[in-house]
Order: sequence, then C-alpha cells, then structure tokens
Amino acid sequence: MGCFITFEGIEGCGKTTQIRMAGEFLEAKGIPVIVTEEPGGTALGAELRKLLLNRSDFEFCTESELFLFLSDRAQHVKELIMPALSRNMWVLCDRFTDATVAYQCFGRGLDRDVVRGMVDFAAAGLRPRLTFLFDLPVETGLARAMDRGSKTGYASEADRFESEKVEFHRRVREGYLVLAGEEPERFFVIDGRKEIPAVQREVSSRLTKLIDARNDG
Ligand code: TMP
Repeated sequence: MGCFITFEGIEGCGKTTQIRMAGEFLEAKGIPVIVTEEPGGTALGAELRKLLLNRSDFEFCTESELFLFLSDRAQHVKELIMPALSRNMWVLCDRFTDATVAYQCFGRGLDRDVVRGMVDFAAAGLRPRLTFLFDLPVETGLARAMDRGSKTGYASEADRFESEKVEFHRRVREGYLVLAGEEPERFFVIDGRKEIPAVQREVSSRLTKLIDARNDG
C-alpha cells in the first residue's frame, strides 16, 4: 500500500507551490508519486470545480455545496486515489476531508456531527497518513491570493470562496487549527508566513522522517 498525504490551509497559504515541490522531492528519491487536487482531480471533478468556484450566477445553498464537494471526493477516491495507493504509489492531495470540515462546518456553519459520517462515506473511510497545514493570518493569505490572480492574468477576479468576507476566512483558519489540535500526530503545522525555501525545508524533512519510518517498519 502506498502513502496518502494531504496539504491544507486557507487561501494564499502556499500549499499549491509546496505540494509541487514535495512531489519533485519524492520523485528524486525514486518514490512513485501522484500529485492531485480537490476539487478537480478527475474529469468529473474538473467540471465540478468550475461549477463550485467560478459560477457566481448560481445560488448554492450550503447543503448542495457540501454534496458537490463530496461528489468530487467520492469520484476522486474511487477513480484515482485508491487505485494509485494499491499500486504502492504515494498520493499527495491538495485539500481533502479537512477542507470540508474547515470550510463547510466552521466556515458555513454546518453541524460537524451531521457532516462527519457523510465525509467518511464519500472518502470510503480513507484518512491521510500525514497532513501538512500551512497556517498564516487571513489578511496575508488573501492578499497573496489576489496578487497571484493579477500576476497570472487568470482568475483575476476572486473565486466564490476568495470573495467571501474576512470573517469567513477567520472561521476557516480557526477550524483548521482546531482539527490540528485534535489530531496532533497526523497534522504537521507550518508557519506559512515563512519564505518558500524555508517552508520547503520543513516539508522535506518531515517527509524524510516518514520515509525512514516506513523503511524501518
Ligand atoms: P483551491 O484548491 O484552489 O484552494 O480552491 C478550492 C476552494 O474550494 C477553496 O476555497 C476551498 C474550497 N473547498 C471547500 O470549501 N470544501 C472542500 O471540501 C474542498 C475540497 C475545497
């Protein structure tokens, strides 16, 4: 069985840059790896991603938003993640179930006890071996996210989540920290305000420990 690792954090936390570099780091060590994302890791997911992030012409009630994220995840787990893990690959995933709890429960206000079973069902019970949480103040993250939009020329308009109020993002950040506090052995929290190379060193050294632990075990 391979190894499933997730990357989490608020908008502009730097996880997408870090996941790419982590993938290159593992590849250089000869470990077969797939880097993927939610929403959007499958063909169906790519359509759901557009729907969820870029269609401001629709009204989404909170429940239907939840089910679309879960639909993306169920497809992703069955079509891509599980088969890769059973081929002994390492799967690095940009967001997973913690994002649903942080955004839909802490952010939007859905009841965690109600959502828990659905989240596990959609993930077919799959849980990450390790989760990197890149934590930083929401103002810093949102400023970075906006800056990225204007530099790339893509998505220069904020997506449906980026354009939420600062208070929403504060609740999401707080939610992630609560989750990390509940499972300190799974979460590795990194100060996302640091420079990219410094964060990368922390990620690589945690991955090295995991590789060593698996070789010993
Ligand atoms: P990102 O992956 O480019 O950061 O964008 C995904 C957005 O979707 C981000 O704002 C967080 C949000 N999201 C949820 O609200 N719930 C989820 O379960 C997932 C996977 C993402």
